[in-house]
Formats: sequence, C-alpha cells, structure tokens
Amino acid sequence: MRPDFADDLDACRAETFRLLARGVADRRSAFHTPALATVTPSGEPRVRTVVLRAFEPAPRRLRLHTDARSGKFAELSANPSAALHIYDPGSQIQVRLLGQAALHTGDAVADAAWQACRPQSRLCYATLPAPGTPIAAPLPAPASEAGGRAHFAVVLFSLDQFEWLWLAAAGHRRARFDWTGADWRGNWLAP
Ligand SMILES: Cc1cc2nc3c(=O)[nH]c(=O)nc-3n(C[C@H](O)[C@H](O)[C@H](O)COP(=O)(O)O)c2cc1C
Repeated sequence: MRPDFADDLDACRAETFRLLARGVADRRSAFHTPALATVTPSGEPRVRTVVLRAFEPAPRRLRLHTDARSGKFAELSANPSAALHIYDPGSQIQVRLLGQAALHTGDAVADAAWQACRPQSRLCYATLPAPGTPIAAPLPAPASEAGGRAHFAVVLFSLDQFEWLWLAAAGHRRARFDWTGADWRGNWLAP
C-alpha cells in the first residue's frame, strides 16, 4: 500500500516530524544521529555526526549537545547558519534541515540539559586536553565528570526550511517546506 506521503505534502511534513520525534527516543533510528554541517570563518564546510536530543515541532526547535571547546561550537559562534542531514535506509527517506543555531553554556537551558544527562555522557565533557588537540598517544577516558559542566554546551537549532526525499520505484518524491512566519509552506520539487 502506498503511504499517504506519496501524494500529500502535509503527510510528508507529518512523517518528517514523526521521524524526528522517534529519532530522539529510539537509539536505533537513523534520525537519532544526524550529520551536522557548519561553515568555518574562511568559508570551508565541516560535517560530523551528533545525537538528536530533543525535537519540539511547535517552536520548530531541535536540541543537540556539544563541547564548548569544539570546532563546531567556534564555527556556530561565528556563523549560526547550520544544516542537519539524515538518511534512513530502512524507509529510503532523506531529510535535509536548514536553520540557525543558538548556543547555551552558563544559563538555565544548559543547566537543565546537564542535569538530565546520564553520568556516562557527562564524562565526555571532562576530556583534557580540549577536543581536537594533537596528542602523542591515545588517552584513557576521564575517570570523573569534574570540570565537565564548564565545557558542556547546548545547541538549539531553529528550523527554517527542510527538504524531503523519498526514493520509490514508482516515482521518487521530493518536496521543500519553508516556514512563512505563521506556518509551513510545502512545494513539490522535481526529484
Ligand atoms: C554516533 C556518534 C554520535 C556523536 N554525537 C555527538 C554529539 O552529540 N555531540 C558532539 O559534539 N559530538 C558528537 N560526536 C562526535 C562528532 O561527530 C565529532 O567527531 C566531534 O564532536 C568533533 O567535531 P568538531 O571538531 O567538528 O566540533 C558523535 C560521533 C558519533 C560517531
């Protein structure tokens, strides 16, 4: 049976949002680990995997966590424009999200996210020296979370536009959705 989203833009948007919500909850979902793209101050692209921590459809917001000493944090500080990419081989759906990143470190947003982090996850932020520093040999994992809170950062990604691609033998479906300021406007695109 053909899914609703084969011929219905609203269903494409609903399925995108359903998959994002599932990605937060389901560690095995491809939507759990999107690729985050940023641009360096000299205009070079950078891309890496991150974990999708939260998705709120009404404020059009996705939450990611990172280290304030990381390259991506510096890149987003200088240029908040960012993209997220996900491809789910199971459903053959690709989603590309465009938006603006707001960074939170010493505020209530970061405090709440830190409190909700598992102890094991907090250890990552206690790494010394800073992530990306050249080292002579591999390091053991930090034994305690001491110092980690100071490095912990929340990225709130405000979704402005997204593109949907569904691969289907009977005809691929591609659509773009733009936030108008009041609602999502969808348009089919040639695949
Ligand atoms: C499955 C997976 C999940 C990851 N999740 C995160 C994450 O949530 N936040 C993060 O900062 N880095 C995460 N990483 C590490 C990044 O992909 C990247 O290697 C690291 O953050 C350095 O990136 P940067 O130097 O571009 O900032 C993850 C890597 C993998 C493989």
